[in-house]
Amino acid sequence: SDFTVGYFVGSLAKGSINRKLAKALVRLAPAGLEMREIPFGALPLYSYDYDSDFPPVARDFKAAIADVDAVLFVTPEYNRSIPGALKNAIDWASRPYGQNAFTRKPSAIIGTSPGAIGTAVGQQHLKSILGFCNSPMMNAVEAYIQFTPDLISDDGQVSVPSTENFLRNYMGEFRDFIGRVLSVYPRGG
Ligand code: FNR
Repeated sequence: SDFTVGYFVGSLAKGSINRKLAKALVRLAPAGLEMREIPFGALPLYSYDYDSDFPPVARDFKAAIADVDAVLFVTPEYNRSIPGALKNAIDWASRPYGQNAFTRKPSAIIGTSPGAIGTAVGQQHLKSILGFCNSPMMNAVEAYIQFTPDLISDDGQVSVPSTENFLRNYMGEFRDFIGRVLSVYPRGG
């Protein structure tokens, strides 16, 4: 069966290593997973003053989430948490109250850092946030990728075969997880 996955790249940096990782994941995704980026860098800083009248950029952002079967977060760890821009995007998606775009939307989290902890601490924070947003999360496989120089090229070629295999398997596991969640929570059901 075919599923659509919207992916968030947690970094706004031009040279983002997490964007390289996302490119690799798109490349390695199994047949039957359609991958599309959900950009969020143009969103203003959220305030509930917008709840009565979301600007077009925020409406489009929420519609993009509504349009996909699942979401994938490919994010760096900033100061042992998630980047502020990503948290801002999640806050937009979760509101107005009662219109949380992540409710019952399956998700997975992956990230890369030059450090050996490989975004593990930031991922724990994101799990807490997505748990509150009622998103069923893939608990296993976990993926904490230490980015060594040239591990992944700008166009997503992975230079280490064991890492490439790990990432391919990760995407296969995510596809299976999405299928299990959607069998319990059908889209629109
Ligand atoms: C970092 N970095 C970082 N790395 C890490 O492993 N744990 C951390 O808590 C932090 N904190 C942190 C804060 C800020 C503000 C910056 C800019 C960086 C280093 C970070 O992993 C590195 O810059 C990566 O290149 C970030 O990923 P992107 O943005 O290149 O995808």
